[in-house]
Amino acid sequence: MQETLDKIKKEFIKGLDEVKEVLQLEELEQKFFSRKSGEMTEAMKSLKKLSGDAKAEFGKLANEVKKELEDLYGKKKNELEKNKMGDLADSESIDVTQPNLPKKENGSLHPETLVLREMEEVSRNMGFIVEDGPELDSDYFSFEALNIPDSHPARDSQDTFYIKGHPNWCMRPHVSNMQVRMIQKYGTPLRVAYPGRTFRNEATDASHDHTFYQFEALVIDKDINVGNLIGIIKELLSGLYKKDVEVRLRPGYFPFVEPGFEMDMKCLICEGQGCGACGHSGWVETLGCGLVHPKVLEAAGLDPKEWSGLAFGMGLTRLAMQKYRIEDIRHLQSGDLRFLKQF
Ligand code: DAH
Repeated sequence: MQETLDKIKKEFIKGLDEVKEVLQLEELEQKFFSRKSGEMTEAMKSLKKLSGDAKAEFGKLANEVKKELEDLYGKKKNELEKNKMGDLADSESIDVTQPNLPKKENGSLHPETLVLREMEEVSRNMGFIVEDGPELDSDYFSFEALNIPDSHPARDSQDTFYIKGHPNWCMRPHVSNMQVRMIQKYGTPLRVAYPGRTFRNEATDASHDHTFYQFEALVIDKDINVGNLIGIIKELLSGLYKKDVEVRLRPGYFPFVEPGFEMDMKCLICEGQGCGACGHSGWVETLGCGLVHPKVLEAAGLDPKEWSGLAFGMGLTRLAMQKYRIEDIRHLQSGDLRFLKQF
């Protein structure tokens, strides 16, 4: 028995010397202490076969050896774990003497924001109030109040997103949802401009997106006529492009104006000669406009015999694309820094 215990101890210590990592240590543990067939376990079991003094003597010895081996095992385990932490610390060491110089990255304004701010400034200089409106709005302000009843075919070209369970709420398809609201808020006479984000249920491609920006201006006063309309639009566009612009009107249909027009601007690039940018026509389609429809004035609580108005609305996104020569509208909402960092 003595011999067996000596042998076990010797072998265990030798094995322990060779252990370099926890896994090896676990193997060693199995070899000597596993319940089924560990060498130490077997030795302990064989004690049962002894009797009397021999049992007592070797029992004591065996227990001492067992305890000794367990202590050695524990020590080795601690050592290995400490080394492991040390390795980790080494690999993550920080150079505390290194100066902390954060990389400076300045953001920049989105091209639509740049154009929006310019338009706001020009409008304010012309005496317009600049307002902001709700993107989620009632069907009433978005359509009904603008002389576009439920059954009207104009709803097709302005199809937008509705809120589940709330058929009377939609993402506004144009900023014209502000017309009646603004008259109700400020009364008359009125000069107000409202840029903002708009939505359409559109299949997207290089020139269509489901989300884009518009700009609209509304004037309510006595005896407003088409001459006023042309004059104000020319002034605003000239302020925006910082040079005199020439415009022309074509008849256009929008349910909330009467008469209604499409307005083209003489191409600023070729000055009307015809170029790639204007489809070789010399003119660029710029906005929709007209004199405010009597029904809209009535919806706002005004007497159309007393008050009249003009309104014009344009795609601010389109303007930004022209100004910065952006060839695909989808870049604008992409959040792609490679695109955004150019502005
Ligand atoms: N709301 C129209 C659109 O989204 C644009 C428009 C046309 C605005 C004529 C106006 C207007 O103020 O008079 O297509």
